[in-house]
Amino acid sequence: MAPIGIFDSGYGGLTILRQIRHLLPQYDYLYLGDNARAPYGTRSFEIVYEFTLQAVKRLFEMGCPLVILACNTASAKALRTIQQRDLPQIAPEKRVLGIIRPTAECIGKLSETRHIGVVATPGTIRSCTYNLEIAKLHPDIIVTGEPCPMWVPLVENDEYDSPGADYFVEKNISNLLRKDPEIDTIILGCTHYPLLLDKILKHTPQEVRIIPQGQYVADSLQDYLLRHPEMEKKLTKGATTQFLTTEEPSSFTESASIFLGDSTVKAKRITLG
Ligand code: DGL
Repeated sequence: MAPIGIFDSGYGGLTILRQIRHLLPQYDYLYLGDNARAPYGTRSFEIVYEFTLQAVKRLFEMGCPLVILACNTASAKALRTIQQRDLPQIAPEKRVLGIIRPTAECIGKLSETRHIGVVATPGTIRSCTYNLEIAKLHPDIIVTGEPCPMWVPLVENDEYDSPGADYFVEKNISNLLRKDPEIDTIILGCTHYPLLLDKILKHTPQEVRIIPQGQYVADSLQDYLLRHPEMEKKLTKGATTQFLTTEEPSSFTESASIFLGDSTVKAKRITLG
């Protein structure tokens, strides 16, 4: 088996897996959620890098030639170091891709006012990765970030439909729009946030467009595989998905069925580090 590895700190990456599987159902997938150590969004650069590298190494050991960091925090804080420093030493023939670049690429076509908002974890916002990536591709766009430290815990604790979620979503969206009232497009820069989409839409003015990432990441992976036939040939095509978690598997199974809309998920527990 040579599956595509999909990694996230917890459940959020399942929103990306869902879109990727929908577009590319023929491949085998191996999902790893580091639920025992989530959230990553408030952790330091060093810790996110260390945890992400452990996960990537494990997915390589389990046969993945290609790993997608389906986590903005890991993409912001660990991807570049892993690609440039670690990969040439540990597995020069394997690849690790992130999800910020594909999202930054699509944004040029979507904003008319050229004012964009990004809601994400404090780690992603502090790294300024969205600002830097968007500036490289679309220098005319002004990017304003809003850290939302409570949104991932609300999702990881199944509170995404609660009045508490209303409170924090309203607070962060209105902060963002107060900082830049010209924003016409908001990127959901965290893979957990699609679960809060109903609340986000409820607290955002209708004329502001909300952009979840899954579709863009899936399109970009399809394009990558077309441009890299040597990688595409290595991937096995049995249309299976396996799930790994660092937490107790039964709670993963329950939440994963909500995130994926699939009640047949069976997860296996592993330890990292
Ligand atoms: N899902 C991750 C992201 O896209 C963050 C979750 C976390 O804070 O662990 O940034």
